Order: sequence, then structure tokens, then C-alpha cells
Amino acid sequence: MERTFPYKIEPLEEELMKEIEQKFLAYSCQGLVRVEGSGYVFPSTYAKYASTYYNYQFKPDDVLVMTHPRCGTTWTQEIVWTMRNGGQLDSSTELGVRSPFFEFDSLERYELKPMREWMEKHEDPIKEGFYLNLMNSVSSPRTIKTHLPFSLLNPTLLDTSKVIYVARNPKDTCVSYYHQQRLVKVSDFQGSFPEFLDYFCRDLITLGPFWQHIAEGWEKKDHPSVLFLFYEDMKEDIIRELRRINKFLGTGLTDKQLQDVAEHTKFSNMKARPTTNPTKACVEIGRFREGEQDFVRKGITGDWSNYFTPALEEKFQCWMEKWKDMSQNIPFKYNFETVA
Ligand code: A3P
Repeated sequence: MERTFPYKIEPLEEELMKEIEQKFLAYSCQGLVRVEGSGYVFPSTYAKYASTYYNYQFKPDDVLVMTHPRCGTTWTQEIVWTMRNGGQLDSSTELGVRSPFFEFDSLERYELKPMREWMEKHEDPIKEGFYLNLMNSVSSPRTIKTHLPFSLLNPTLLDTSKVIYVARNPKDTCVSYYHQQRLVKVSDFQGSFPEFLDYFCRDLITLGPFWQHIAEGWEKKDHPSVLFLFYEDMKEDIIRELRRINKFLGTGLTDKQLQDVAEHTKFSNMKARPTTNPTKACVEIGRFREGEQDFVRKGITGDWSNYFTPALEEKFQCWMEKWKDMSQNIPFKYNFETVA
């Protein structure tokens, strides 16, 4: 049964868009839209896919790794894919090919060359979607990456599939997102960290508002088909969290296999592997900007303290206060670590 997409999608106000385009160069081509009610912000292409995503029927053995960007998606994808493949340590196939990115068609810059060529070859490219195509060609059981929150996915999702939701404290998420938005050409952010934080706290960064996203995940945390993880807990004791994943997914890995998964997916190893840290290759093909920090960047909790001045802290606290119904209920850790 085809459901009607239940929310209005509106373009951002013209004046605001003009301001954003000065800093996020990618959006001058296509603009941004906002989902009414929840306030989620997307490149305008999302409007073409919203109903398809909302109606997408996931398979019973699909597992979704669902996150707000920069909360530990890639790390968790690599863990979950490895565990679901019997602890097989794959270092040769790109993670994005083994574990597809569900809604990337809506974020992609179709005016860039490789995508333009693909578009030209297909009769109804938007309907088909390059990344949707990839999704559909990956063999089951699929481990799928999504930044879409529950409200924008099929309401039956949890009747069919399992979701691992990963959250990270908003300060480290903001710092990490700043670096990623400077790196990736799909955003092409040209501003400073204080400028980025300002947009973040005005809930204007794509795939936010942060608190709305986290709150939707938190609300479902006790559902039997959901496992809610914190990035900080994974940093604190990865074996403990791998055991939780093992139990949730019923993957039945032994302690020795979990140790191997932990080793394979530890920060320094994932940073060194081009299949999980594609920075160099993406710079070469023009998808990432040269001279920025890596996609798999620093991997610590507490890096925010290197970026937050008292004035930024104050702005951030005002934003936390604005979202207090959500921000006060979710027990994030902000503690400092020095070792990745
Ligand atoms: P930093 O920018 O703070 O280093 P996502 O995959 O959701 O985009 O999240 C990216 C963040 O996760 C980045 O944070 C990245 O470095 C970190 N990360 C990636 N792999 C990791 C790993 N194996 N262990 C810890 N952090 C990891």
C-alpha cells in the first residue's frame, strides 16, 4: 500500500538561502528544503525522493545503522557488517559498497560529472536513484546506513527490520560535522568553526535538527527491534558494546571473534584502511576538498574543548535550553580522552 508522505516540504526562505549559499557553496546549485513540523533540512533533491523513502519496504533481515551525521555511523557500519558476516574481516571492498547509504541520492550533487553521466543514461533517473539501485543490488542480509530519522521512514520499519541507533554528544558531533562539511563537496562549507556552530545552533545544517533526530531515536530505545548505542560508551568499553550488539542481532560470535572485530574496527585501523577512510581517493576524484582533515578524523571524545570558547559555549547552552525537553533527558557524556 502506497502511503501519502504526511509532511509538507518547503524551500528555505529566500533571504536565509542567500546567506547560507555564501558559506555552503554546494547549495547555490539546488537550494535547501525543510520538512514542516520536525524541521529537518535537506538539499532540495530530497523532495523528489521523500515519498519513495517513506514507502520503502525494508526486508526482514535488513539491519539499519541509523544516526545523525558524525555520531559514529561508519564505525558502527563496519562493526555490524563484520559481525553479520561471521566475523569475516574484509579489507578490500569499500564499506559503502558492502553497506549502502540509503538516502544518498537526496544528498548527492547530480550536476557533478559522474552523476551527470549516470543521469543521462537513465530514462527516469530520479525514480530509479543511483544509490537506491545500489541498495537493491546488495545481497542480503543487508546492513544499511541511514541518516533519516524514524519519522521519515516507513512507519512499519520496526515490524520488519532491526535498527541500531547511535548517538554522540552534540559538542563533539558539531566539531566533527564542521570538519566533514568542509571536506565534502556535497556541502562545500567555506566558513570557520564559530560560523558553523552558529548554523548548527540555528538548526540549519542538513539532516538536523540534532535534538529532533536524537529524540526520535531515544523514544524508540526500548523497542525490541531497536538497539540504542552511545558513541562515548563504545569508546569507553568496546567489548561490552560488541556483546550487546551480538545479543541484539543474534550473531553468536565468540569472545575471541569479538576481540578480532574490535581490533579490525579500532580507530587507527579504520583510519588506515582506504575502504573505510576513503579520503585520499575522494580527493583525487574531486569529491572531497584537498587539505582538510580526514573523513575518519580523530576518533576521540572531548575534542570539542579544543574548539569551544566561552562565547561559543554560551551560544550552545542557549540552544540546549531551547531544546531542553530533549536535551535534559538524554544522558550524554562529554568527558575528555587523550588516546584514540
Ligand atoms: P571525529 O571527526 O570526531 O574524529 P560518521 O561515521 O557518523 O560520519 O562519524 C564520524 C566520526 O566517527 C568521526 O569523528 C570519525 O573520526 C569517528 N570514527 C570513525 N571510525 C571510528 C572508529 N573506528 N573509532 C572511533 N571513532 C571513529
